[in-house]
Amino acid sequence: MKTATIKSLLEDPQIGNQVIVMGWVRTFRSNRFIAINDGSTLQNLQCVIDFENTEEALLKEINTGACLKLTGKLEESQGRGQKVEVKVADFEVLGISDANEYPIQPKKHSLEFLREKAHLRIRTNTFSAIMRIRSKLAFAVHQYFNEEGFFYMHTPIITGSDAEGAGEMFRVSTLDSKSPPLSKSGDIDYKKDFFGKETNLTVSGQLEGETYAMGLGKIYTFGPTFRAENSNTSRHLAEFWMIEPEMAFYDLEDNMDLAEDFIKYTLRYVLEHCKEDLEFLENRLLDEEKTKPQNERSPMPLIEKLRFVVDNEFKRVSYTEAIDVLRNSKANKKKRFQYTVDQWGIDLQSEHERYLVEKHFNAPVILYNYPANIKAFYMRLNEDEKTVRAMDVLFPGIGEIVGGSQREERLDVLKKKMEVLGIDQEELYWYLDLRKFGSAVHSGFGLGFERLVLFATGMGNIRDVIPYPRTPQNAEF
Ligand code: 4AD
Ligand code: MG
Repeated sequence: MKTATIKSLLEDPQIGNQVIVMGWVRTFRSNRFIAINDGSTLQNLQCVIDFENTEEALLKEINTGACLKLTGKLEESQGRGQKVEVKVADFEVLGISDANEYPIQPKKHSLEFLREKAHLRIRTNTFSAIMRIRSKLAFAVHQYFNEEGFFYMHTPIITGSDAEGAGEMFRVSTLDSKSPPLSKSGDIDYKKDFFGKETNLTVSGQLEGETYAMGLGKIYTFGPTFRAENSNTSRHLAEFWMIEPEMAFYDLEDNMDLAEDFIKYTLRYVLEHCKEDLEFLENRLLDEEKTKPQNERSPMPLIEKLRFVVDNEFKRVSYTEAIDVLRNSKANKKKRFQYTVDQWGIDLQSEHERYLVEKHFNAPVILYNYPANIKAFYMRLNEDEKTVRAMDVLFPGIGEIVGGSQREERLDVLKKKMEVLGIDQEELYWYLDLRKFGSAVHSGFGLGFERLVLFATGMGNIRDVIPYPRTPQNAEF
């Protein structure tokens, strides 16, 4: 007989059948009722044991956290709270659990506490729900691009270039850190390093992605991304997963259409396939909300919020329009922003982005045509020579979820820009080659996968939507 998952037993219960289940004990009541969970679903399976015929020593081993194998008959349950249960004929304790030491007790734990126990937190309803949704979302990403005719590319994790030009990179080196070889000028001699040059972990697969789009047409990457920015916020990780589509022949408008369609597809997928987990997280949030003051409560329950995004058009607003809205806002005039919006050209802070999305437009917003000075070197310069064809998708409660642009396809303009910014053209000769040999309009964007999971699950901290978060001063596990 094969072991059945609890999900399969509950979805299609064959009353009277003999079954084998394995899982971890959530609770054990009255020396008789074991609630067991195997991770396949949020639901526990109730298993009833015959305690009169069970050795006392064995009964003592059925503690919260222990792993059991149970064999018995599937029956309709007399009790409330479940339709079926297993009348246990035989059971085996696969792994005992010390009741006094096991940190995941059947009670409410704070998310902060569970972060410290990240290797065991997956045995809670909250984290199993989040991680099942994360898994479904990742699948939806691949399904979407596959259906749309994109090819999945693996861009390098170790690179020599800083695509975003922000200098927030983790160095990859095998040099002896105590006495690295020095060049004549006294600098570290990276020619003697493993790759014969300075290398780092990638901050984006975009530049390599572009080379493949200019041959395959439509590609996407979905891989780990590393940023050594010292932002200890609830929206930043030092290691996160980014999805980066790149499309030949797409202009900025096509790019915005794709981003909107893609995000809606993944959220619709989760609404359809993760109902139970979403309902659980929604109720969890509603409980949490009750402890907050009225004005800090979210206006919509989780599922309604996801539906709202899926069913409504994102507002498309140029940077210039956004600055006008912000400059004339009450919040700005009453100096309620930490950074006052006084002139065109400033970089938007997250307080500004959130004002636009949550207070002014009340919907996801795509901001486009940003000032060239505050964006990366590769973005297509507009005819006004002041703005570039950039776009950011801003989400309620999250802020920026997508950043992208139409790419500068004109060799002379790109070279000039790199010169002004002091970007090494020899190092990026291959990127310039794309503009020399068969250049064309092309575009792409990057979506931070954890920010999407944050939104889909309604969680408040990005550390809770990735199994093992890497943040400044923290790389435990
Ligand atoms: O806006 P970013 O920096 O854009 C790029 O890297 C482009 N090369 C993408 C492209 O056009 N192919 O990052 C893209 C997205 C952000 O909008 C955000 O969702 C996420 O990546 N992101 C982070 N997520 C978690 N932690 C961090 N430290 C992040 N930095 C960016
Ligand atoms: Mg960005």
